[in-house]
Parts: sequence; C-alpha cells; structure tokens
Amino acid sequence: MTVYLESARVLQDQFGAGQPRVIARAPGRVNLIGEHTDYNEGYVLPFAIDRYTEAAFRPRSDSQVLVYSDTIGQIFSLALPLQNPQPSGNWSDYVVGILMELFQRCKTPFGFEAAIVGNVPLEAGLSSSASLEIATAVGLSQLYELELSGRELVKLCQRAEIEFVGMPCGIMDQYISYFAQSERALLLDTRTMVSRLVPMQLEGMDFLVVDSAVRRSLSRSGYAERRRECEQAVRWFSQSFSEQKISSLRDVTEATLYEAKGKMPDQLWRRARHVVEENSRVLAMVEALKRRNASEVGQLLSASHSSLRDSFQVSTTELDFLVDFGLEQGSLGARMVGGGFGGVTLHIIPTKLHETYVSILQDAYWRQFGLRAEVIQVRPSPGAAAFQAKRDG
Ligand code: GLA
Repeated sequence: MTVYLESARVLQDQFGAGQPRVIARAPGRVNLIGEHTDYNEGYVLPFAIDRYTEAAFRPRSDSQVLVYSDTIGQIFSLALPLQNPQPSGNWSDYVVGILMELFQRCKTPFGFEAAIVGNVPLEAGLSSSASLEIATAVGLSQLYELELSGRELVKLCQRAEIEFVGMPCGIMDQYISYFAQSERALLLDTRTMVSRLVPMQLEGMDFLVVDSAVRRSLSRSGYAERRRECEQAVRWFSQSFSEQKISSLRDVTEATLYEAKGKMPDQLWRRARHVVEENSRVLAMVEALKRRNASEVGQLLSASHSSLRDSFQVSTTELDFLVDFGLEQGSLGARMVGGGFGGVTLHIIPTKLHETYVSILQDAYWRQFGLRAEVIQVRPSPGAAAFQAKRDG
C-alpha cells in the first residue's frame, strides 16, 4: 500500500514529536455517469481518482480533541464528551459529524490529535468532502477499535453529512471512496445497494478532468432544490399512475414518462426525464465499457451533459463551454461531473491528442472567461486504506 506519510510529518510539526497510531486515507472520485440518480434509487457508475485526503491520528491522555487541517491551515479543538455541538459551516463540521456518529458506538472515547492533508481540489465536484469523511471515519474507527463494516462506515459518513453538515447528499461519493478498486468503475444500484466492479480498459484513451475554477455557493441550495423537485415529481406520478405503485423515479418507465408529458408541470417533467433517461445511460455505459467502445462511451458522456444542462438545469456557461469546445478539439465526449453549479468537466480524448488538447482548451478558456482551467488526468484508483503502528513501537 502506498501512503504519502505527509500527514505523519504534519502531525509532528503541529503537535510535537511522536508517531501517529493510525494513518488513513481515502480518495476523491469522478462519476463516469449517473448524475443526480443516487437519491432517486437509481444507478451510478463512479470511479475513485488518484487524489486523496490523508489523516494521521494519535491518542491523548486527556479528553481534548485537536485536529489540524493542512489544506485550510487551521486547528480545530473541542473537549470530550461532546456537548450538543452545532455546525459552524466550515471543514470541522465533517469531523464533528463523524465523531457524533462514532460516539454512539464508542462508550469510552478518549482525546486525540490529528493532522489532515490532501490534494483533492475543494468544492470542485470531486468529492473532497466524502474523502475527508471516509478518511476520518476509517482512522477513528481504528483508533477507537470499533468493529464497523465498510457498509456501516459508508452509511455513517452519509448520515453525518446529511444530519450535521446539512447537505442532503446521496450515497455515491462515500461508497466509491471506500469500495473503489484500481482499473475499475463501480456500478451501484442505490435501490438494492448491490454493486459490482466494471473493468475500464479503453486503450489509447485518456480521461481528463478540467476544473472550471467556478465555485458557486448555490451548489448546496440548488442541490436541495433539485432533490425536492424530484420528490414532487414522484408524488405526481404516484397519484396519476396509482396502479403502477411508483415510490421513486426509479419506478417510472420511459412509456409512463412520455405519457405524462404536457400533463405534469413542465419543470418537474424535465427533472424526471433526466433521472429516468440517465438510469438507462448508466446501463448503456456498462455495455459500452464491456465492448471497450470508446466512441460510445464518449457519446453517452455528452448525452448526459445535454440532459444535465437542458432537463436538470444544473450546468453553467463555463461548464458548457468546456464541454462544447472540447468536442470541437477532438474529445469523444465530455460532461459536467457531480452536483453541478460549477466544478469540473470530464473529457475522454485519444492519448495522442493529450498535450495539444490541454493547451488549446486552457488558452480558449482563459480568453473567454479570464480563468485558468486546471487539468488533471484521472485513472480509476483504489479506495480507502489505513495502517496502524504497533502499540508499543
Ligand atoms: C453530490 C452528492 C452525490 C450525488 C451527486 C450528483 O456529489 O454528494 O450524492 O447526488 O452530487 O450525482
């Protein structure tokens, strides 16, 4: 297992000599396809990327908790036991949310100090928050010797994000950060929670993530609003097609969807359309990967983007530009990734175009918006890992 060990150095710089007891790390992710489907009991097909949050922990003999985030350059502290903590709106909420979940299972928590380092771009749609949650939960469950299954950890992180941080997310980001494997995407059915790995072998192709450098505060409120609209759409379908027993958008067939067109409010219809058709695109993507058909993969990415732009309406001018301009420069397909309202786009391009593609796209983006678009190549990478130092060593 490769670990940077950078967090161990930062731990000592901040809190003095002494080795960590546990180091845990967890990756960010790209979602190949299946956007805004995970809270609609749909399918998702993410893969983890080679960017991580890593956290080093060691126990204290008192009841203090001290956590240093190297990314933010801040120390956060509190004293145990937790006294009804309230969210503060910043990074420490993720840690406190996890502590609250873990302490329901840990009878005698002791204090600890931790250092967190990472290289997942923040608020870019690459799940830096899920990687922070999973690294924290994996590390602390080992520090406190809690026996938790991977599924329990993943669920607990999602609950912390919904209930303490206040972001009503689905399960995709935490799930992939924990369960990812290299060279593979992961098909997850969020209705049954059954998943399977899907090999990604597209020879002569690169996946690039292009950061629009736009961070919108709208992302949380816009996300919550889309979630509500999906719920309203479900209510409409279940009342209007009561014989079909529709309890989520997963139950809506394409035939029912088109029967509803013009009868239900147009905005809700579009939201439903995106989710219903996106589920089909996920399954088509699995087939395209099986056939190693890169141009089909590209077409599905672009179709997903059009749907997120026109039907689900979570894209931005900047993201649309990156996708459209990329297609003109020879990408096989591209789309925005994650919740939307800013963040990154994912592009599939022939390896031989890589260098020219990046510089032409960056130049054009700069000319158009005066912003620098960072580009990183992403490869399906392994999920969370941890190691423990010997107790007396
Ligand atoms: C965010 C959420 C995920 C998912 C995506 C959209 O990343 O955390 O659960 O809903 O948006 O697909």
